[in-house]
Amino acid sequence: MLINVVFLYRKKRLNMVGKMRKVVILSGAGMSAESGIMTFRDMGGIWEQYNIEEVASPIAWQNSPQLVLDFYNQRRKQLMEVEPNTGHLALVDLEQRYELQIITQNVDNLHERAGSSKVMHLHGELMKVRSEVNEKLVYELDHWELKLGDKAEDGNQLRPHIVWFGESVPMLEKAIPFVQEADIIIIVGTSMQVYPAASLISYSKTSAELFYIDPNAEDYHYPNLKTITQKAGEGLPLLVKQLLK
Ligand code: APR
Repeated sequence: MLINVVFLYRKKRLNMVGKMRKVVILSGAGMSAESGIMTFRDMGGIWEQYNIEEVASPIAWQNSPQLVLDFYNQRRKQLMEVEPNTGHLALVDLEQRYELQIITQNVDNLHERAGSSKVMHLHGELMKVRSEVNEKLVYELDHWELKLGDKAEDGNQLRPHIVWFGESVPMLEKAIPFVQEADIIIIVGTSMQVYPAASLISYSKTSAELFYIDPNAEDYHYPNLKTITQKAGEGLPLLVKQLLK
């Protein structure tokens, strides 16, 4: 038994006290790009096609709720037509041998549909809606269309359960301790431009191993960060294979 623990510790799968090493995944839109979901800021991205102020802000909801509903209904419809990719699936394998927490900026449910068990959404979830007055009244949606007149139990209009620009990110406080305790942090497919999500890396402990998988990873600099300029669907399976060796 002792030999086993030492062997696994040497194999970097257990930490000093023989516990599974902790891995945190910080994922963004690039994680789902190979599933066919457009990112926001790449060429031809969502924010080139839509104006944030018109579809993803409290002002937009106030001024033109139908435009906002149409925007998220279209994205929900598309989400129901796509599948997780090899990057999502590789993380399920990693969960077998490491204590894994996914902290995603994505509102899609592809991590969960791939089989990942611990997924925290910083910016909300497309397949959920909530009362526009009481943010605690949250419901699952099993179809793509949310309409004006769809009400919550408090009698108020339902809105997408999404963190819009200018709104606070309530999950951040829950995410920070996971990053602080992580032995390994893997950033995947995010431009690291949107705060406070992009600040999470700064909570990592100095001994943590840091990886960044993104075709444009070179543009971002952080101490001891190993950059992998590959797509998620290629770079993640390779890194996971290495970590499972
Ligand atoms: N694999 C990995 N990374 C990819 C891939 C891919 N196949 N394709 C593109 N990328 C990278 C791009 O190089 C870019 O760095 O994904 C990143 C996408 O960046 P953004 O479009 O800015 O998306 P993200 O960082 O997730 O945006 C953050 O902004 O719009 C808001 O709330 C929205 O959660 C979102 C937040």
